[in-house]
Amino acid sequence: MTTTGSGSTYDPPADPAHGRARAAASAAAVRGTGPPLRTDRRVVLVTGASSGIGAATARRFAAGGWQLVLSGRDRRRLEETASGTSAVLLPADLAAPDGAKMLAEAALRKTGRVDVLVAGAGIGWAGPFLTMPHTDIDRVLFLDLNATLHLVREVLPSMVAAGSGRVVLVGSVAGSVGVREEAVYSAAKAGLAAFAEALRQELRGTGVGVTLVVPGPVETGFFARRGTPYHRSHPRPTSPGRVAAAVWNAVAQGRDDTYIPTWLTLPARVRALTPRLYRRLLNRFG
Ligand SMILES: NC(=O)c1ccc[n+]([C@@H]2O[C@H](COP(=O)([O-])OP(=O)(O)OC[C@H]3O[C@@H](n4cnc5c(N)ncnc54)[C@H](OP(=O)(O)O)[C@@H]3O)[C@@H](O)[C@H]2O)c1
Repeated sequence: MTTTGSGSTYDPPADPAHGRARAAASAAAVRGTGPPLRTDRRVVLVTGASSGIGAATARRFAAGGWQLVLSGRDRRRLEETASGTSAVLLPADLAAPDGAKMLAEAALRKTGRVDVLVAGAGIGWAGPFLTMPHTDIDRVLFLDLNATLHLVREVLPSMVAAGSGRVVLVGSVAGSVGVREEAVYSAAKAGLAAFAEALRQELRGTGVGVTLVVPGPVETGFFARRGTPYHRSHPRPTSPGRVAAAVWNAVAQGRDDTYIPTWLTLPARVRALTPRLYRRLLNRFG
């Protein structure tokens, strides 16, 4: 079972030959052309903007009058998201070595600042852990966790220097409760949740906030890309527009976290407070 987005192949980050080729391609993609943009509008950099939650979030911020900087690998789908806006498009492969660094540099060079970073790019993998190829373990962890952290590391200094900004991390309920047959994906998203908590503490007093977005299942291409459809009857999938609205509200209100739908805080709380009860309920109801 593989989970490549847009049918691209995966080169393990450790392979230097592949890494160099990939880095060169990625550098070419994110170089960005033309003079720096002059805008008095607030700037949001959205990764994963070519599809699903990222695309819906980008459209929500465009409707709110923000300047968009959009990233994903598929330029054609980025153009669709950007339609009718003056978005800057920076196609980039975040699984490439230095992909996150080059994207952040290109975004800051192009717009001078990033007020909000929405780190939405991500992939899934479903199936028994014992059958998961090592390359897929690396691939999920690298994109969903490492690349996101590197991107935040690159963008954050400019926010701290400006004394304002917000990092929005797209986690998952899988990271809150641990979902069977999504062990590595759950681990990556749990890592993001812990990172959000720790970073928020470090940034206290800087004017920069961190929001963790915790969606349950969402109707996007995510399941088709990972190669396994969503088969549970509960929770029912929600729309990417609903997640985008939650992101928008969380940024407007400076919220630390937002669950979509909100009742999903319940299993996360039960698991955190009484893990034995949580496991017993899980064994009984699945
Ligand atoms: N759908 C759900 O049920 C669900 C639930 C909870 C959390 N989430 C999280 O929400 C986020 C967005 O997922 P989605 O549902 O919107 O899925 P999606 O429709 O498959 O979108 C995934 C996005 O990630 C980008 N991406 C994938 N690999 C990339 C790479 N190597 N470099 C750069 N960009 C890459 C894709 O861009 P290209 O196609 O252009 O490569 C695409 O824009 C993910 O972090 C996911 O884990 C999803």
